[in-house]
Amino acid sequence: MKAGPKAAVDDSPLPFRPSSEVESERFLAFADKFIRVPKGTNSRGKLNPRPWQMDIVRDVLDSGARTVGLMLPRGSGKTTLNAAIGLYVFFCWGDGANVVVFAVDEKQANLAFSAARRMVELSPELANRCQVFKERLYLPSSDSSFAVYAASPAGAEGLDYVLAICDEAGVINRDLFEVVQLAQGKRKRSVVVAIGTPGPRLDDQVLLDLRAYAAEHPEDRSQVWREFSAAGFEDHPPDCEHCWKLANPALDDFLHRDALHALLPPKVRESTFRRARLCQLASATDNAFLPSGVWDGLSTGVGIPAGREVVVALDGSFSDDTTALLVATVSPTPHFDVIKVWERPRGDDDYRVPVADVEDEIRAACRRWQVVEVIADPFRWTRTLQVLESERLPVVEFPHSPSRLTTATGDLYSAAVNGRITHSGNATLAAHVAAAVIREDARGMRLDKASRSRTAPKIDLAACLVMAHSRATWRATKKRNRARSFAS
Ligand SMILES: Nc1ncnc2c1ncn2[C@@H]1O[C@H](COP(=O)(O)OP(=O)(O)OP(=O)(O)O)[C@@H](O)[C@H]1O
Ligand SMILES: [Mg+2]
Repeated sequence: MKAGPKAAVDDSPLPFRPSSEVESERFLAFADKFIRVPKGTNSRGKLNPRPWQMDIVRDVLDSGARTVGLMLPRGSGKTTLNAAIGLYVFFCWGDGANVVVFAVDEKQANLAFSAARRMVELSPELANRCQVFKERLYLPSSDSSFAVYAASPAGAEGLDYVLAICDEAGVINRDLFEVVQLAQGKRKRSVVVAIGTPGPRLDDQVLLDLRAYAAEHPEDRSQVWREFSAAGFEDHPPDCEHCWKLANPALDDFLHRDALHALLPPKVRESTFRRARLCQLASATDNAFLPSGVWDGLSTGVGIPAGREVVVALDGSFSDDTTALLVATVSPTPHFDVIKVWERPRGDDDYRVPVADVEDEIRAACRRWQVVEVIADPFRWTRTLQVLESERLPVVEFPHSPSRLTTATGDLYSAAVNGRITHSGNATLAAHVAAAVIREDARGMRLDKASRSRTAPKIDLAACLVMAHSRATWRATKKRNRARSFAS
């Protein structure tokens, strides 16, 4: 091997014998012994990772997840912490511990690399053991490298890493991110970290896709998500103290309050300030169907016992490849639960909605509960409705006409804000409701997705909710009337 800029490297092991087997604790010991703050506040002092930074470190090093999504506002030490975690892995994970950092452009790549290089330079033990190239550190004793790349999907082909960090995941190129992710699997253990502040394109960015996926799939342990944001408090003013603190764990520490003050609107646009400094996604939450907190407040945490009188609603669009099945008790104050949601697995372009499974699930629901109506939009589900009807299931068509949807959506809204419905607390249902926005035009009002992007968060269960609520409450009044007329 050709010698680097410095031929003589010390190939003795690092004088580092942490007692703990837990990676995050080993990282802490490593940082304490070798890592100094490379610049800015407390420059050359110990890095001293804060408790909230250690939460991030545990996500990356201890969770076992293959993908870690992290959303933080500007200036919260993302690049610095990445460099420290990357160096730990590079120096301590043994042979072939390749670490790659992807930045969005040359300038960001330089920033990311100089943070790591400066940390190495500030520690004689580290500096003596590795070779420093222009965009790469190399450790001859273990044949490990720490490399920083400016974004280029072609440059990322053929990667073999144990840790890949995508800095600025709010603006990183989607093709590049997918190439990086697809390189996983070569190692028993490898992790991709996508860290960033939300970028300006709210309807199409890697960071927010990961966020949406995490909200809809809390059960998927292969991905973890952590955010520091004032999301949900978009109704507070941009200079709200509470929101600043909530979103900025480094505030009054190494993030300076006066710098935030200096950027308040009108110096920057309010939507930009909210996005970059508070991680509030203004346009995604404009027109949100329900005010924040309303849906959570309606959860009872329990499902619907077998044998109850219920309606079942089916919705989903074939273009989106999501299908949802929801159940509601027949009542003036219905209780809702999810039966099942089918979704196209990420990356599977051949996926087709499993119509036969959907039909089987509806048959099973009819055995479990006393189903008085199976409701669907006939435009999309003609065949299924015909099949089920031929089996004498109580099929009811709910044509999605503007006038009908306007009434049903308005009724659901007023029932939700007035506490006249409850639900099981299902996380996917909550995510679909949170993602639903109101569209209003000359023809009326309906629920819609916040964006047309194929990866936008799904709302199919919310669409089921509109239909199921309409029919469940209508059935309840009809039954009461019938009972009354019976009695008279
Ligand atoms: N414990 C710490 N962790 C991280 N950074 C620290 C710490 N203590 C001091 N700093 C300093 O705070 C600054 C954090 O800046 P850094 O570029 O890492 O943030 P960032 O979130 O990547 O910013 P940007 O949003 O502009 O990309 C650096 O100058 C860093 O040296
Ligand atoms: Mg940065």
